[in-house]
Amino acid sequence: MNIGILTGGGDCPGLNAVIRAAVRKFHRDAEGTVLGIRKGWYGMMQGLAEELSVRSVSGILPKGGTILGTSRTNPRTEAGGMEQVEEHFRSWQLDGLIAIGGEDTLGVAADLHARGLPVVGVPKTIDNDLRGTDYTFGFDTALNIATEAIDRLHTTAESHDRVIVVEVMGRHTGWIAVCAGIAGGADVILVPERPVDVHEMCDTILKRHQRGKDFSIVVVAEGARLKAREGEADPVTASAELDAFGHVKLGGIGNVVGAAIKQITGFDTRVSVLGHIQRGGTPTAFDRVLATRFGVRAVELVLQGQFGKMVALQGNRIEAVDLAIAKSGIKTLDPSWYEIAQVFFG
Ligand code: F6P
Repeated sequence: MNIGILTGGGDCPGLNAVIRAAVRKFHRDAEGTVLGIRKGWYGMMQGLAEELSVRSVSGILPKGGTILGTSRTNPRTEAGGMEQVEEHFRSWQLDGLIAIGGEDTLGVAADLHARGLPVVGVPKTIDNDLRGTDYTFGFDTALNIATEAIDRLHTTAESHDRVIVVEVMGRHTGWIAVCAGIAGGADVILVPERPVDVHEMCDTILKRHQRGKDFSIVVVAEGARLKAREGEADPVTASAELDAFGHVKLGGIGNVVGAAIKQITGFDTRVSVLGHIQRGGTPTAFDRVLATRFGVRAVELVLQGQFGKMVALQGNRIEAVDLAIAKSGIKTLDPSWYEIAQVFFG
């Protein structure tokens, strides 16, 4: 039996742990080859692959990024892209494919499965916004990095009597912002799911300072929106450029919020954008364990011929859910989590 494995979309701590787990499990339970496909769907279209052995995945467990490389190539929008993927699947004589990715990569995987390709999905994203799974690996690492950053910004904000705005990742959802904000003791948190009025936000900060606090920490998700005032409701984007899946490049909301706070409250305000630091480096123990469980289960599904499934964490168990769930929309923030964070605003 031969299987392929690929990583697509933005990288994420824990990808290598999934790859290692899948290779180790396969070679323990089956005879055959694991082909590592380079650069996600791009490599599947172009025929870029290398054999992965137990030896070649040795030592990668704690390593960030992905040894296979990744891309945001979308074979659905490339002329003949899906056919090229199918052609290489056949010419490599694969019996199954494990696709590790977020909504975009797994959306393609679901479409390929609908066309007859035997695919199993593994959910990844630091944003934790994939439906069907309680957590995606990578999220815990990003959350810990953001929390440590907030802790560090606290001491400098307090020393200088400043407001510090921390922009964290979260294209569509505020999972990182809310969880890091709760863990780091943020005074205000802005998320894409809840547009805020900038004046109301400044009132919260002003009231906090009136009761004797001379500094504040404001956590802003990159996709957060300010409430419409004279037709302004779109998220701030760093550029008008769209990727192959139609996503705009976000970034800049932190500076907009920081400038508004300075202007409205008059407080000395600084902005810190964490960016890709949240995505790089070694995964936490939680993410290593989750990624390992996902990788082992994905191979089990392939060996059992259970295709069209995505491995998922539900409660404490790793389950197999319908892969098409990846196309059913994103998992937005549970409002009750934001309400917990709100208890500590101001
Ligand atoms: O999807 C994960 C994510 O981290 C988003 O929060 C962010 O908008 C995006 O990736 C940025 O990715 P890149 O800079 O690689 O396009």
